[in-house]
Amino acid sequence: MNEDLVLIKEAKKAREAAYAPYSNFLVGAAMLGESGKVYLGCNIENASYGASNCAERTALFKAVSEGEKRFVKIAIVGAKRGEAPKDLCPPCGICRQVMLEFCDPETFQILLEENQTLRTYLLKDLLPYSFGPTNL
Ligand code: THU
Repeated sequence: MNEDLVLIKEAKKAREAAYAPYSNFLVGAAMLGESGKVYLGCNIENASYGASNCAERTALFKAVSEGEKRFVKIAIVGAKRGEAPKDLCPPCGICRQVMLEFCDPETFQILLEENQTLRTYLLKDLLPYSFGPTNL
């Protein structure tokens, strides 16, 4: 199995830990750091809805807190509870912005799956005309 499909598989595993009692939409992410290490994340919701965290940021914040600050790619899967991921689960705008802080938009890949077909996007295409660290 190639590296991208392994990452998708790991994202599906991470999704099993999702804490999403309010939306019942479970998301998993697997982020590959430049060190070669993979960091897993799931969405973690809160009774105060705004305090919830997406799977992507969970993975990224875990990684940064462990010393990894540059990343190669991320795989993301999501679906309602009780359903297997089938549709694309694109990262939300806040997660795209957080990725920009730690990932090169020209090369960082966002791996999504649609009906078992892998689709690869570049951060620069999902966050055009961005404001990031290079603007300061
Ligand atoms: N969610 C993620 O974790 N990542 C995404 O890419 C999209 C949305 C979460 C946030 C919330 O817990 C639930 O999915 C429904 O929006």
